[in-house]
Amino acid sequence: MLYNNIKISPAKIDDVCQDWVDALNNPEIVKYSNQRFRKHSISSQTSFLKKKLADKSSRIFIFKNDKEMIGVGEISKIDFKNLNAEISYMIINERFWGKGIGTQIVQKLILIGFSELNLKKLYAGTNSSNIGSQKVLKKNAFQIEGTQKKHLITDEGFEDKILFGIVRST
Ligand SMILES: CC(C)(COP(=O)(O)OP(=O)(O)OC[C@H]1O[C@@H](n2cnc3c(N)ncnc32)[C@H](O)[C@@H]1OP(=O)(O)O)[C@@H](O)C(=O)NCCC(=O)NCCS
Repeated sequence: MLYNNIKISPAKIDDVCQDWVDALNNPEIVKYSNQRFRKHSISSQTSFLKKKLADKSSRIFIFKNDKEMIGVGEISKIDFKNLNAEISYMIINERFWGKGIGTQIVQKLILIGFSELNLKKLYAGTNSSNIGSQKVLKKNAFQIEGTQKKHLITDEGFEDKILFGIVRST
C-alpha cells in the first residue's frame, strides 16, 4: 500500500512524544545509528530538539499522518558557502516500513534542499547492510560516490559506509 496522506512540517518542541522516544530506544530502529549508544527520554529529546532548532546549519522535519507521528527527516551540516548538506531520516515504527514512506521522505528532503534552501548537492551515508536505506536513496536518483571501508560498527562487527550524493541539475 502506498501511503499518500503524509504531512511534513518543520519540527517544534511540541513534537517530542513518547513514540519518538520509544523509537530511539528501540534497538531494531536505531541499529545503524549512534543513537543506540544512549538512553533516551522525553527530557533528553526535548534538549536535543532545542539545540537542533537553534542550529542554523540544520533543518529538522516531522512526518505525520492524520493520527500520529510517522518519521523524522533532517537536512544537516548545511554549508551555505559550498551549497551542500547531509540528509538523514528515520521511520519511527516498524509497522510503517516497506510502504514507500522512506522514499517519500527523501523526496521531500530533496525538494526542500534544492528548491527552498537552494543547495546544489545533498549527500547521505548508509551502512553497507542497510539495504532499505540504499534503495530509498537510489529510488530518489542518489548515486553511489564511494565506500569508506570498515567505517561503522554494528552488533555484527565493522561495516563499510556507502556514500551517496545527488547534484541539482540546474
Ligand atoms: C531505511 C528506511 C528509511 C526505509 O524506509 P521504508 O519506508 O521502509 O522504505 P520504502 O518502503 O520507501 O522502500 C524502498 C525500497 O526499499 C525496499 N526495502 C525497504 N526496507 C528494506 C529492507 N530492510 N531490506 C530490503 N529492502 C528493503 C522496499 O522493498 C522498496 O523496494 P522496491 O521499491 O524495490 O519495492 C526505514 O526502514 C527506517 O526508517 N529504518 C530505520 C532508520 C534508518 O535506517 N535510517 C536510515 C539511516 S542511513
